[in-house]
Amino acid sequence: MKYAVIGPGAIGSIIYYILEDKRDAILITKPYQLKILKEKGLKIKEFNKAVRTIRNVNVTSSFPKLKEVDVIFLCVKSTDTREVAEKIKGNVKKSALIISLQNGVRNTDILSKITGITSIPGVVTFNATLNEIGEVLLTMKGNIYLQNNKEFEYILNDIREIFNSNSIKIKLVDDIISLAWSKLVINLQNAITAITGQTIRQSLIDPISRKIIYHTLEEGIKVVEKKGVKLGFSFVLNPKLLLFLLRLPTFFIRFGVRLMRIESDAKSSMLQSILRGKQTEVEFLNGEIDKLARNMGLKAPINRELVQIVKEMERKKEHRFVSPLELAVALGIN
Ligand SMILES: NC(=O)c1ccc[n+]([C@@H]2O[C@H](COP(=O)([O-])OP(=O)(O)OC[C@H]3O[C@@H](n4cnc5c(N)ncnc54)[C@H](OP(=O)(O)O)[C@@H]3O)[C@@H](O)[C@H]2O)c1
Repeated sequence: MKYAVIGPGAIGSIIYYILEDKRDAILITKPYQLKILKEKGLKIKEFNKAVRTIRNVNVTSSFPKLKEVDVIFLCVKSTDTREVAEKIKGNVKKSALIISLQNGVRNTDILSKITGITSIPGVVTFNATLNEIGEVLLTMKGNIYLQNNKEFEYILNDIREIFNSNSIKIKLVDDIISLAWSKLVINLQNAITAITGQTIRQSLIDPISRKIIYHTLEEGIKVVEKKGVKLGFSFVLNPKLLLFLLRLPTFFIRFGVRLMRIESDAKSSMLQSILRGKQTEVEFLNGEIDKLARNMGLKAPINRELVQIVKEMERKKEHRFVSPLELAVALGIN
């Protein structure tokens, strides 16, 4: 089976790194990234292990190369899904499968509609940071969850076999939609780190940020449950359990953060986008809650305001972060 990874960022680089020594795999990049990866190779740093460098990255910027591929892992930001889907369209086998490893709950619909190819969501629970093109750190342990699917059993079995000997495992679940929404609600906190500039660890330990995260998630849970989605899955992807944990004293939080092996410099992907002057996924996360609330005649003022602040930061392209206290005041949280 032949694989392609689209997007040489934090997630795409890790996926390519796992695939490349087990299967025939290509990494699809933008032309400027192709040049860097060809010159420098791809360096992956995984927790306490030594840096591993892949010298001959099988890299291309040519989407027609997808015609040879059976499985595509889509690893671009949700803001780029439409554009990439247009490039995939007409350049892929009818029998191919697209696995979106993106956050948000809309990507697979957009992909299937534009490309005409089956697209399934994958939920990623590890965290990775792109230092620069060709240099990625795996900053938090986790897995990839995929929907159990009889039609694609042979592909899913092959993927499980590839990841079997890796620290990141493939887990098959029966209700990926509920899992994707659970992940979306948990990711609502990314907007807070994007605005304050805090790392994931700092934002959880700081009592004021924690309070903001609590109220943001609580609002998200109410809206999503009103839609009829059953939230809460495993120990890791359970927004309601997280809500409970966020109320614990800082001492326990410090312990929990260590238990979860969150590296001290792990940054949310939304903060990474702000730091790189890129468009964030805020509209696909907090914006989704705001949209859903409005469609049901409800209100989600905290998530709505977070979207506006992050969009303003994107527009200004400057990294003037605000303190958690200033943010709490702006959101009316006291
Ligand atoms: N990072 C994490 O820890 C994490 C964890 C869970 C889920 N996720 C989700 O995974 C998805 C990817 O996140 P990420 O952090 O890996 O993002 P990222 O580091 O920004 O990587 C995305 C990459 O895709 C590239 N790209 C965009 N358009 C492309 C195109 N037309 N052709 C080829 N490459 C293209 C981008 O290039 P440019 O930068 O030049 O646009 C960038 O290198 C997001 O939905 C994110 O929410 C991330």
